[in-house]
Amino acid sequence: MSDNNLKTIETAALEALAACTDSASVEKVRVSVLGKKGELTLVMRTMGQLPKEERPAFGQMVNDTRRVIENALEERLNALRAAEQAARLEAERIDVTEPAAEIAQGSLHPLTIVQEMLEDIFISLGFSVADGPEVELDHYNFELMNIPKEHPARDMQDSFYFSPNLLLRTHTSPVQARYMTTHEPPIRIICPGRVYRCDEVDATHSPVFHQMEGLVIDKGIRMSDLKGTLDEFAKRLYGPETKTRFRPSFFPFTEPSAEVDLTCAMCGGKGCRVCKGTGWIEVLGCGMVHPNVLRACGIDPEVYSGFAFGLGLDRITTIKYGISDLRLMYENDTRFLSQF
Ligand code: PHE
Repeated sequence: MSDNNLKTIETAALEALAACTDSASVEKVRVSVLGKKGELTLVMRTMGQLPKEERPAFGQMVNDTRRVIENALEERLNALRAAEQAARLEAERIDVTEPAAEIAQGSLHPLTIVQEMLEDIFISLGFSVADGPEVELDHYNFELMNIPKEHPARDMQDSFYFSPNLLLRTHTSPVQARYMTTHEPPIRIICPGRVYRCDEVDATHSPVFHQMEGLVIDKGIRMSDLKGTLDEFAKRLYGPETKTRFRPSFFPFTEPSAEVDLTCAMCGGKGCRVCKGTGWIEVLGCGMVHPNVLRACGIDPEVYSGFAFGLGLDRITTIKYGISDLRLMYENDTRFLSQF
């Protein structure tokens, strides 16, 4: 075994290392030179064949060679690892300044927008918002509203019944009944919500639609309070030029009763397609709360009086946005909904 041989191994190992392009190939070089069956290891094993006195010098030479190769290995490995890490970091790099993919944002349903708008108007007039169940007892939906069984007015409101005493509410009046039976006057509430009637679906009818009813009860409430309140509401809804028109009507739960028209917001009363040339649009039913209703709900009609009104949110919404078909509001088509 000569110096030369060790030098050859060393040179070959260093060349092999220089040619390595990744840490795995460095490991291969390590195994082939320094591993159990590696070239240098085999050389070391031949030491036993040498005369005793030559062994220390030989061992020293082999160890020197081993150290040189080990150092080169480590150096190469470090360099390659650093390069690999740099490459990985570069590949995984996130450009935080890059514009993000747009996140589709939802929007409010037009009915919700209008409901909130009307709530704001009435809240600013001193009303609070009351809520009640959509699956309602006949007792609240009809009985307390002065619509006893067999009353012809029940025909006006073809209803979805679950059982003789349970139905989908046909108006939001039962919310008022529930409120009156649990609260002392003065009462000043609005009750917005979904209501249901057996109706065929077409451009202007839907078996589910939305109402907002209002109720005011106190001592000395008169028809003029009703007119003043609805007049103010109309002006805040469609602008200060808006006029109201009260026409006598009938509801079982109010007496006297009226239907209310507002000057058409589209044409300002001149007559257009929306108001069918009349200059007016009908938006409300209203009246003074019937004494039978007050009494049934535990309020003394000799002491208190009140007014109530009900308006259709769907109609106000279709007019406000020029929506020609009611069905659009119930189909959840995002092409329609994203416009609001
Ligand atoms: N509850 C009535 C309806 O659904 C609306 C209304 C409420 C009318 C209050 C007058 C007074 O038609």
